[in-house]
Amino acid sequence: MFDSTRRIFLQQTAMGLATVGASGLVLRCDAQPTQEINRNQADRVLIQMGPAQPVASPTAELKKITPQPYGPFYRTGAPFRGKLSVPGEPGTTFILSGRVWAFDTRRPLPGAVLDFWHVDMQEKYSNGVTDYRNRGRLVTSESGYYELESIRPIPYRPNPTGAPEFWRCAHYHLVAVCPGYQPLVTEIHFQGDSKRNDPMFRVENAIAVEDKKINGTSFQTGVFDIVLEREPSK
Ligand SMILES: [Fe+2]
Repeated sequence: MFDSTRRIFLQQTAMGLATVGASGLVLRCDAQPTQEINRNQADRVLIQMGPAQPVASPTAELKKITPQPYGPFYRTGAPFRGKLSVPGEPGTTFILSGRVWAFDTRRPLPGAVLDFWHVDMQEKYSNGVTDYRNRGRLVTSESGYYELESIRPIPYRPNPTGAPEFWRCAHYHLVAVCPGYQPLVTEIHFQGDSKRNDPMFRVENAIAVEDKKINGTSFQTGVFDIVLEREPSK
């Protein structure tokens, strides 16, 4: 038996999928469970959404972020994912999180695209062509929130043979883009870094690190809020 209601549902689902496309099928990390499913008088399925999430407010004064250059190791096309390192990647597991804020409105920016890349424990970047280890892009949630898991990058020597004494401080590279706002390219540094004498080290970009242990697993966390400035009107 093929129930007529089920047929209508499948027809609607097929049309919906054709409209949304494959990219619309990615479940957000902060998605809430469907609250209730009812049928209306036309015997069509209605999916009722849960209550809207409260709008976040900054807990401190928003400060503009000090930009930093891309450097030579940025590559386009990193995969969208919340875990940048591969399973078993050597290093200290690190959870980096924060929110993206609009400097002008002091409101969170949902839908901002954040592109991260960093070195591994061998002081190397993946090639970004066949290997995207320690690279990844994320989209901020409706409350402007992001959270990623990777390893904590270490200081590295950009030119170990030609200039073995020159160390870069440990950093995550980051590009943040959001429609209507100026793209931001910067680096996230670490408070107390052993190579903070690097001239590019910026104390205002340095995050505090917390050691945590949950269910026997040790890891570190840090919070970095990103503040974007409105694009100048043309
Ligand atoms: Fe770098």
